[in-house]
Amino acid sequence: MPTLYDRLGGQEAIGAVVDEFYDRVLADDQLVHYFDDVDMTKQRAHQTQFLSAVAGGPVEYDGDDMRTAHEHLEINRADFGAIATHLEAALESFDVDREDIDAVLEAVGSYEDDIVMAE
Ligand code: HEM
Repeated sequence: MPTLYDRLGGQEAIGAVVDEFYDRVLADDQLVHYFDDVDMTKQRAHQTQFLSAVAGGPVEYDGDDMRTAHEHLEINRADFGAIATHLEAALESFDVDREDIDAVLEAVGSYEDDIVMAE
């Protein structure tokens, strides 16, 4: 039975989605300021590991847990929603099946309360 990770095409395909995702995030005036001082090469690599692991792939995520990575940023719910929308659009641009897109969004949505620190 293929995992969500397999259906997405493995780590290389997930890396391509992550690149598209951050290109969209960095082009969004509402969000770009969060990433002003962030090493985006490391960020893209960690996000690829994280999504791969969350999707059931045999990949080790070696970044911080979601609360530690985000709590200093005071992210509000609207910005979380905006990020999720860019992730959805990136997955759609790669013709990922609707069910698999929803599974990814549900998986990252389960971390919302660790990431959102402001209303
Ligand atoms: C959709 C859910 C999200 C997931 C799965 C996610 C995932 C991650 C991951 C894996 C890291 C790397 C942590 C590390 O390198 O140790 C990270 C860092 C970061 N995330 Fe998120 N994130 C999410 C939502 C958001 C939102 C909503 C924002 C801002 C609007 C955001 C902004 C950042 C920033 C700025 C960093 C870098 C922090 C730093 O290096 O100081 N993330 N995130």
